[in-house]
Amino acid sequence: MKNILCIGAGYVGGPTMAMIAKKCPQYRVKIVDINAARIDAWNSDNLPVYEPGLQEVVESVRGKNLFFGTDIDASIKEADIIFVSVNTPTKTFGFGCGKASDLQYIEKTARSILAASDGNKIVVEKSTLPVRTAESMERILNSNQKGIHFDVVSNPEFLAEGTAITDLENPDRVLIGGHTDASGRAAVEEIAKIYANWVPRERIITTNLWSSELSKLTANAFLAQRISSVNSLSALCEKTGANIDEIAYAIGCDSRIGSKFLKASIGFGGSCFKKDILNLVYLCEHYGLPEVAEYWESVVKINEWQTTRSVKRVLRSLFNTIAGKKIAVFGFAFKANTNDTRESPAHLVVRELLDERAIPVITDYKALPDAKRDLSDVLDKVMFVEDPYEAAKDAHAILLCTEWRQFAELDWKKVYNLMSKPALIFDGRNILNGDELTKIGFEFMSIGKA
Ligand code: UDX
Ligand code: ADP
Repeated sequence: MKNILCIGAGYVGGPTMAMIAKKCPQYRVKIVDINAARIDAWNSDNLPVYEPGLQEVVESVRGKNLFFGTDIDASIKEADIIFVSVNTPTKTFGFGCGKASDLQYIEKTARSILAASDGNKIVVEKSTLPVRTAESMERILNSNQKGIHFDVVSNPEFLAEGTAITDLENPDRVLIGGHTDASGRAAVEEIAKIYANWVPRERIITTNLWSSELSKLTANAFLAQRISSVNSLSALCEKTGANIDEIAYAIGCDSRIGSKFLKASIGFGGSCFKKDILNLVYLCEHYGLPEVAEYWESVVKINEWQTTRSVKRVLRSLFNTIAGKKIAVFGFAFKANTNDTRESPAHLVVRELLDERAIPVITDYKALPDAKRDLSDVLDKVMFVEDPYEAAKDAHAILLCTEWRQFAELDWKKVYNLMSKPALIFDGRNILNGDELTKIGFEFMSIGKA
């Protein structure tokens, strides 16, 4: 039986390894992390990551061929294949501050792998990394005097949070990049063999290492660019009487454009888009391509502008005075069906409300614990309420920031009766029925509609 190890039990490592364990009973899969509390949570009924269907997958294999632990060195020694899925946040200091990826966790992991290994291994980059990171990993790993050989392979993860389990079960493609010498090709094949247990061969793409690393960054850049494009046009719609949903439908019917990822919103969030684009921007600057860097950076700029301009629009409708008023924020997660709040547009919304001295009342179905952590510096100025009706009580406005299906299904008449009048709703995700809400008595605003 082959031993697979994953270092880093986060949003990527946890679900991905659970799926591999489920689909490949012939492998023993172990996930380790330096964060003991996180590992305890993976071993409990209360997983640290909320994903529809994840609990069931984990329960079906945990203790059979899927294990969670903190014994990193012993697990490295046993492993044949090591997936590295540690975090790669944006650097907050030094060269490349605010843009480049902070690779300290990757480097530490490479050094731990080297120190604890006593035999050849395949090391798989699962975290999103700048192009040519594998080169640094190889330099560290293969600098050893022990006579051990490491093959470094890139296998970026394309799952989206909130749909991780279906994305993993039925991926559009699996990408595996490696060196083209015999040893590199064999390593790529070894990884392809894992996925071939459930993914059709034609969907397993193999490339050279650098193409694989760069494909991940550029896939995210292209997806984010679509949202920034549609969001920039939503502003034009608001001025002209055009309707952004109708435009998105009309242009999405062109098969060269396609209908997905054209939903105008208060802004994209998540741990990947902003981080990866800034990383791409940094790479372009590094390689002397300032025009390309500027082009991609504008995708991030439009995104922030979209959130701030939305809050300003709401503020204007409230006669520019919200000091001391309760404003309900519906949703703090960066999208529906996840407890993840990283880079959520709701952050910026709450900060802007606080600048205006309003009292934000936040409600969310899964993300309140993370929201409290993110806003720990202003806990005395913000309220967190589980029940959306209670959050709406005496509020002057509701800002809907996350497209939780449950919000669309609320008893809006009841919500209206609880609120302070005039009651305003700003639908930052375009999921509510504006006509019905207006009939109830709400003042209704949404993205990309006059
Ligand atoms: C993304 C990529 O989709 C995934 O392939 C990659 O592996 C990681 O980054 P994720 O960040 O989990 O996944 O979520 P995604 O569904 O891409 O949504 C990102 C943000 O864009 C969310 O805030 C979402 O609400 C927003 N979005 C998405 C829109 O505003 N409009 C859309 O049409 C689609
Ligand atoms: P992602 O969304 O990419 O999965 P997360 O932040 O959710 O990112 O997960 C990364 C995980 O990697 C965290 O749980 C963190 O504790 C873990 N980690 C970081 N560095 C190390 C390390 N050197 N050894 C083991 N785990 C690590």
